[in-house]
Amino acid sequence: MFDVITFGSATRDIFVRSKDFKILDSSEFVTGKGIAVEAGSKLKVDELIFASGGGGTNCAATFALQCLHTAYVGLVGDDGGGREIIRELQELGVGTAFVKVTNRAQTPYSIILSAPGGPVRHASQGDAGGERSILVYEGASHFLNLQDIPWEKIKKTKWFYLSGLAGKSAKTFKPIVEFAAENGIKLAVNPGRDQLGKDLDILLGLLGKIDILIVNQEEASLITGIDYKDEPELFKKFDELVSGIAVMSKGAGGVAVSDGQKIYRAGIPKSDYIDRTGAGDAFGSGFVSVIIYGGTVEQAIQFGTVNATSTIQQIGAKSGLLPKGEWGSWEKAEVTIT
Ligand SMILES: Nc1ncnc2c1ncn2[C@@H]1O[C@H](COP(=O)(O)OP(=O)(O)OP(=O)(O)O)[C@@H](O)[C@H]1O
Ligand SMILES: [Mg+2]
Repeated sequence: MFDVITFGSATRDIFVRSKDFKILDSSEFVTGKGIAVEAGSKLKVDELIFASGGGGTNCAATFALQCLHTAYVGLVGDDGGGREIIRELQELGVGTAFVKVTNRAQTPYSIILSAPGGPVRHASQGDAGGERSILVYEGASHFLNLQDIPWEKIKKTKWFYLSGLAGKSAKTFKPIVEFAAENGIKLAVNPGRDQLGKDLDILLGLLGKIDILIVNQEEASLITGIDYKDEPELFKKFDELVSGIAVMSKGAGGVAVSDGQKIYRAGIPKSDYIDRTGAGDAFGSGFVSVIIYGGTVEQAIQFGTVNATSTIQQIGAKSGLLPKGEWGSWEKAEVTIT
């Protein structure tokens, strides 16, 4: 029997940093800027880092590091990247019996291009600084279907953690939520772009079955239809819609959480950061780990925050995730309750 099973993507990430990437102003791009390289030239890469990512495996990594009996359900391609993902999960102590190797697509890859100009600076300054663009090959994670899920074998799991299920995999979102509800499995959900976009009505219809909903500010606005700057109204709506705990993360602004009775707020500790990939996953899975162990919302906020702070000190979504019992040297976030 597992404490927690995660669903969501499994990717390989390649971080490429070069001083030769140029930022060009151009009306060709929505942002008005592009990252450019000289055509017909060879340019030097200063730093090349291979890591893994994807919400499903990032969160599984946190749970396993917190000594919870964890498995990941998902697909990888029949290739070196897929084998590397499985090897890493095993090393972390995540069960891989339910990871399927598929021929439907290759393992997802993200190539993160970082131009100079940052991004090492105080976390409270947000995401300005060094420009980056990400090349995404979506791959196998988009092809999960109902037959890939070993329903009988996961029926007795205590918790499911669902991060985004995109592409064809989005069709499994509702059946997984309903299966959890029918089998008394507790459910944490960090919805992805499809759940918040084309399938928003499906998500809205399922909010009553979710024990912990984790979203960022923009996502909270999409769900409630209320501007995230109007936090009191937004949480009023959240309390109507969500029967469990609603968590709204605010990037460098910290987090606000409602358990239906009280609203908890906390900021982030003073720290620099190197790479914010995986912050949302580290926070969400850190928060849920504490709740699984029977901790309070305050403790969950404090650990989620420090798990996120720790992972953004290193390149790679899983690097820096905290092992059980460790909190790093950061000040614990002060939680105010109203
Ligand atoms: N720039 C930052 N500096 C410090 N902490 C951060 C920063 N960004 C995020 N965090 C931490 O991570 C948590 C989640 O971040 P955020 O609200 O950006 O989630 P998200 O938008 O879902 O992230 P992701 O893009 O990883 O999905 C925050 O509550 C905070 O604790
Ligand atoms: Mg997120």
